[in-house]
Amino acid sequence: MFQRRSALAAGVLGVLLGATACRNDMHNQPKYKPFAATNFFGDRRSERPAIEDTVARGQLRLDDARYTGKVNGKDIDFFPIQITRADLQRGQERFNIYCSPCHGRLGNGHGMVVARGLRQPPNYADPRLVNAPVGHFFDVMTNGYGAMYSYASRVAVDDRWRIAAYIRTLQMSQNAPAALAQQGMNQPPAKTNREDTGAAGGGHAGGMK
Ligand code: HEC
Repeated sequence: MFQRRSALAAGVLGVLLGATACRNDMHNQPKYKPFAATNFFGDRRSERPAIEDTVARGQLRLDDARYTGKVNGKDIDFFPIQITRADLQRGQERFNIYCSPCHGRLGNGHGMVVARGLRQPPNYADPRLVNAPVGHFFDVMTNGYGAMYSYASRVAVDDRWRIAAYIRTLQMSQNAPAALAQQGMNQPPAKTNREDTGAAGGGHAGGMK
């Protein structure tokens, strides 16, 4: 009985194996895996370097202001892309993801990672940073700054401008003239689903619960 059953199992297995071996659809294609060698080109590289004096589609970056944050080596103090309300919201979202762990959601430098011992970044409301041109913020994200790493590989160029714009709103929120606050009181309260008000707790480190 036992032997018959195992013979049957072996038979079924054999049929299954046979069936899979026959399927060859698109498994074998004339393609190279990344960094694979080839004898087709003299240098044996399947990955080809860019042809000299050519620019790949979508990689023409003539606009210095937009891609470096500088014009003639100087930080720009204007936004090289249009910033709408939606851009600000996108900047806020990206800031909360990539920057708030250290800088805190208010940009005051009381992020969770800092509460765990990383060096505290400066407060964005610091007059030096309030007066810094926006190109400086783009530059810090693009190239890093002191102990802070570059975010160029994680935050796309235009998102860096959106974050810079959101940093401006954070700065304004900490230095708003009383008259502006009065105006704001006549507005209906903005709808929000953020649960991040903890960072407002001043010296209370962390701020994110
Ligand atoms: C891992 C922690 C960390 C993250 C995440 C982080 N930063 Fe920083 N940042 C720092 C530290 C630390 C400094 C201070 C560096 C120094 O002075 O050596 C700093 C400094 C800065 C400064 C001030 C530069 C100056 O002129 O003093 C700006 C602006 C800034 N960061 C922007 C950002 C933005 C925007 C993001 C998100 C894209 C971000 N940072 C993400 C840790 C971080």
